[in-house]
Amino acid sequence: MNKLNQDKTIMNSVLSSMAEGVLVVDKNSQIILANKTAENIFLVREGVLLGKTFSELPDYAKIRSMVGGVLKTGKDVFAETLIRPHTQIYRVHVAPINGSDGSIDGAVAVIHDVTDARNFDKMRSEFVSNVSHELRTPLTSIKGFVETLLDGAMENNNLCRRFLTIIDSETYRLGRLIEDLLTLSSIESQERPMYLMPLCMVNSVINVMNIMGPQISDKCLRVDYIYEPNLAYINADEDLVNQVLINLLDNAIKYTPRKGTITIRSFVQNRRVITTVTDTGMGISRESLPRVFERFYRVDKARSRDRGGTGLGLSIVKHIVEAHGGEVRVESEVGRGSTFGASFIAL
Ligand SMILES: Nc1ncnc2c1ncn2[C@@H]1O[C@H](COP(=O)(O)OP(=O)(O)O)[C@@H](O)[C@H]1O
Ligand SMILES: [Mg+2]
Repeated sequence: MNKLNQDKTIMNSVLSSMAEGVLVVDKNSQIILANKTAENIFLVREGVLLGKTFSELPDYAKIRSMVGGVLKTGKDVFAETLIRPHTQIYRVHVAPINGSDGSIDGAVAVIHDVTDARNFDKMRSEFVSNVSHELRTPLTSIKGFVETLLDGAMENNNLCRRFLTIIDSETYRLGRLIEDLLTLSSIESQERPMYLMPLCMVNSVINVMNIMGPQISDKCLRVDYIYEPNLAYINADEDLVNQVLINLLDNAIKYTPRKGTITIRSFVQNRRVITTVTDTGMGISRESLPRVFERFYRVDKARSRDRGGTGLGLSIVKHIVEAHGGEVRVESEVGRGSTFGASFIAL
């Protein structure tokens, strides 16, 4: 193989293995090279782009005008654009190809799919705006009551006590919110290692039932636990599993009226240890059901707030369970109650 052919082979294999689409046009805007990714982006068969000019590709007006501009001015341009029929966002960079005498001999366009990065940016900014809103609500209320107290309500013993109680519960909610956010971010960033060990689900459930004892007796609820004898162990992080059980039981308690019943079950199915929490509470409507695991989603914001809710409990549950290779599920009927379940791989 001579040197020129060898160079060409190397260049072709580099181009065809690139994740970016590459198009080269000559000074008449005619395509003289297109790699495989470019053909995929434009949804054409191999070789179809060669010899075409952009005026023959009406869907790509944006790239055409970029290429036209570069051929005229000799200056690089960058832009983000949609390329039909994709829903993806592409970042396009067009640079001139200069001849040895400084003339513009053509242009090269590099097309990069930035959809994931843009979606991520969008998600992050939505998250920040949700968080700020959630933090602002209790703060606004604390500020309002403090001002009223300073304005004179302080002199009235009854009012003073009432307002301070509200401030106390709003402060508690702020603290909860920050705790939940930190938990969520530490699991997400994987900065906290998971300490996996063989774990007995029955012990964890009984442990959590004891922790929640005061809340259970406050509402005169009855909590039963039914489990298979000799239940298989799971390989899991004990603190995180406790967190899952606490969040599920906390909801069952919160959203069930006084004197209701909660039934927890643990059993093995398809090599998974499944634990379900069934309540006799208000239930969740069919429209809301698919959304309850989303961050900050609450069927009834005011009611959740009243009960110290942050809307993050179930998203934490989902995160933890999925980080262990398991799954969450929910069934519910309005007015009758809900069943939340978490499965973990059995040892
Ligand atoms: N057991 C349940 N019964 C009825 N609704 C529930 C139950 N568990 C969760 N929900 C609904 O799902 C929403 C999200 O739950 P969660 O993420 O734990 O947030 P929070 O409890 O802080 O409001 C709740 O606001 C509530 O509307
Ligand atoms: Mg909750």
